[in-house]
Amino acid sequence: MAGSKAFFLAILGCACLCSSVLAVRELSDVAMVDRFERWIVEHGHVYEDAAEKARRFEVFKDNVAFIESFNAGNNKFWLGVNQFADLTVGEFKSTIANKGFKPISANVPTGFKYENLSVNALPTSVDWRTKGAVTPIKNQEQCGCCWAFSAVAAMEGIVKLSTGRLISLSEQEIVDCDTHDTDEGCGGGWMDGAFEFVIKNGGITTESSYPYKAVDGKCKGGSKSAATIKGYEDVPANNEAALMKAVANQPVSVAVDAGGRTFMFYSGGVMTGSCGTELDHGIAAIGYGVESDGTKYWILKNSWGTTWGEKGFLRMEKDISDKRGMCGLAMKPSYPTEQK
Ligand SMILES: *[C@@H]1O[C@H](CO)[C@@H](O)[C@H](O)[C@H]1NC(C)=O
Repeated sequence: MAGSKAFFLAILGCACLCSSVLAVRELSDVAMVDRFERWIVEHGHVYEDAAEKARRFEVFKDNVAFIESFNAGNNKFWLGVNQFADLTVGEFKSTIANKGFKPISANVPTGFKYENLSVNALPTSVDWRTKGAVTPIKNQEQCGCCWAFSAVAAMEGIVKLSTGRLISLSEQEIVDCDTHDTDEGCGGGWMDGAFEFVIKNGGITTESSYPYKAVDGKCKGGSKSAATIKGYEDVPANNEAALMKAVANQPVSVAVDAGGRTFMFYSGGVMTGSCGTELDHGIAAIGYGVESDGTKYWILKNSWGTTWGEKGFLRMEKDISDKRGMCGLAMKPSYPTEQK
């Protein structure tokens, strides 16, 4: 008799334990659902049906868990639940939306006008934003034309430095009108291709006269040129010292591997550690500096709006042992040369 009573109590105890665990799980799910709903509103997402929404919720939950566990660790940078939080890293990696760098053409050897500068004579920190040579953060949205944004950021820089005027230039003109070789608008392209287009086109117009639409469109001919460039040069590959010489003198287009989960959710600090080198995204190096703990970094301008990174910007460790640089940033940098 006593035995069966103990057995009964044991079952009861177990049941109580199970239901309280369940309650806690439900409670955190309720909080997570609430968080997901707020995130949907914040980013203006719309789902086809309840099944899609339920599937996206599971991905969101998994990403939040990854982000929180990363942030609990000891890292020099941190992650945030940004606009990509309902995408798996596989989806983020495989889609060209938001990316679109296509380094298909072989680099034509160019000169490197900064080759004879001494690294020791360069300033220890440079930030072209403080010199008025960087326009506000833009957003390429669901169009794989990062390459146009990267090239435009570098051109806006050199135009400001050679004319004194900061003019926001048109990515859409490049997307619609530069349809040569590897350059395919939202389907991807290459920064050097964009520079070549602008040289042949006799210039590029302003953002306001040819605004961004985030889709491929028909080329509007006869746009009035607002700025021109003389040429472009490639920075010697896999050489962060050479990249430093260039960035000390002007904003530079760089390609990176942006397919990693930490890149996807980067929210601030100096990105360090392992990263891929399969270049799939074009951004612009707009400076460099040193943290108080001695960590050297590049400052980069992205085109994913201001809800990603440090209000749209990114810092990545500089002068790492891998000559290709963080996420391959030293593999294919290039820059336009001054206005004609
Ligand atoms: C760098 O120096 C070398 C040797 O003096 C010279 O031949 C070369 O033209 C210089 N490069 C540039 C870009 O001025």
